[in-house]
Amino acid sequence: MLLPDTAARTAGDRLSVGGCDLVELAHRFGTPLYVFDEATLRARLRGYREALRQWPAGGEVLYSAKAYLGRAMVGILRDEDCGIDVVSGGELSIALEAGMPPAWIGFAGNNKDAAEVEAALGAGIGHLVIDSDHELDLLAASPRRPSAGALVRISPGIRPDTHDFISTGQLDSKFGFGVDSGQAMVALRRAIGVGAIDLRGVHMHIGSQIFDLRCYPAAIGIAAGLLAAARDELGFVARELSVGGGLGIAYTDDDDPPTPREFMSVVTESVGAVFGERGLPLPALLVEPGRSVAGPAGVALYTVGGRKEIPGVRTYVAVDGGMGDNIRPKLYGARYQPMLAGDAERRPVETVTIAGRYCESTDILAHDVELPRLVPGDVIAVPASGAYSLAMASNYNVNPRPAVVFVGDGRARLVRRRETLDDMLRCEVG
Ligand SMILES: Cc1ncc(COP(=O)(O)O)c(C=O)c1O
Repeated sequence: MLLPDTAARTAGDRLSVGGCDLVELAHRFGTPLYVFDEATLRARLRGYREALRQWPAGGEVLYSAKAYLGRAMVGILRDEDCGIDVVSGGELSIALEAGMPPAWIGFAGNNKDAAEVEAALGAGIGHLVIDSDHELDLLAASPRRPSAGALVRISPGIRPDTHDFISTGQLDSKFGFGVDSGQAMVALRRAIGVGAIDLRGVHMHIGSQIFDLRCYPAAIGIAAGLLAAARDELGFVARELSVGGGLGIAYTDDDDPPTPREFMSVVTESVGAVFGERGLPLPALLVEPGRSVAGPAGVALYTVGGRKEIPGVRTYVAVDGGMGDNIRPKLYGARYQPMLAGDAERRPVETVTIAGRYCESTDILAHDVELPRLVPGDVIAVPASGAYSLAMASNYNVNPRPAVVFVGDGRARLVRRRETLDDMLRCEVG
């Protein structure tokens, strides 16, 4: 199902999520509106967390904040015994300010600056991911003595079956130290000698929106080979392995991704087998799911405006959002399956293209979708919108970024208000 777990049809044949009628939410909070179903967020996190509880060496779920971050999200992570993976000083500040224990924070990203490295050390985070020689230089220059747990990010040379732009583990990638090239071993050797960190193991993240899980055993095998060599050559025994995130989700009915539990069983079986074969102790496992937690929990709501029919070509129906709140269709050619939020009696009768309101001809939310005849004021729901949409939102054309509500048990709480013109003017000087 594309909609969140709690989606249902209300008496008036309208869509509800978390016991809240979506059309009512749209009228109450305005559109575009992002609605997150708390039950789905929690269920997805538990899929990972419960599998890790069975893993003999323990481990942590570090939700990838880059998919969607806000204080309310951090609150849910804490409730569910999950940590967080951040990729900037800004995300780190929100995580800390919202009360995430530093030991449960990972910090990835390929070009942390001196202030970010210092912030991570100062907070004493659990999993600082070292991505470059420059970061090793910054760490080596720090007078702090073991302040943060750390991992070296490796690039295992695996190309998962996903869009090139979200594939990160192949040799030609800006992320991590190559294993084949010998750079990962050199980085481990250097990191062992850095006093400011407690080096715990290696990290990898091979890509995103992955359906074919066979790339994980392949990458884990490469990591185990490296760690066996590091044990033999450097006397370094890894205590932690991060396999990153990457599990895909369904954006349309054509998608059939594995579940978090299936992902975890592939990962744990593979780590158990290859670490055993190489005589390595089982490491604590870290997983960093982003899309597969936030994505299915989020629904974007838009109000329909005008339409343009080009006879024999196509019909455009315009909505009040678009690339400013969700740039994924433009950035990755992502596909969505919008649906009418009210009045399910109205059956699909035409194929239309849903256009955004931004002044770019490529601002299209969904091409060629079957929908009832839409009229101005209709509310449409776009399922699977929770990840990498708001997180990448912009004020393009001086449009305010949307509000966010979390729903559950029939209650809706506003967790981020819609921006105002004053918010957008705040940084103007002179
Ligand atoms: C280092 C790291 N970890 C985890 C993730 C989360 O990936 P996903 O949202 O595909 O689960 C990303 C996203 O690209 C990432 O860069």
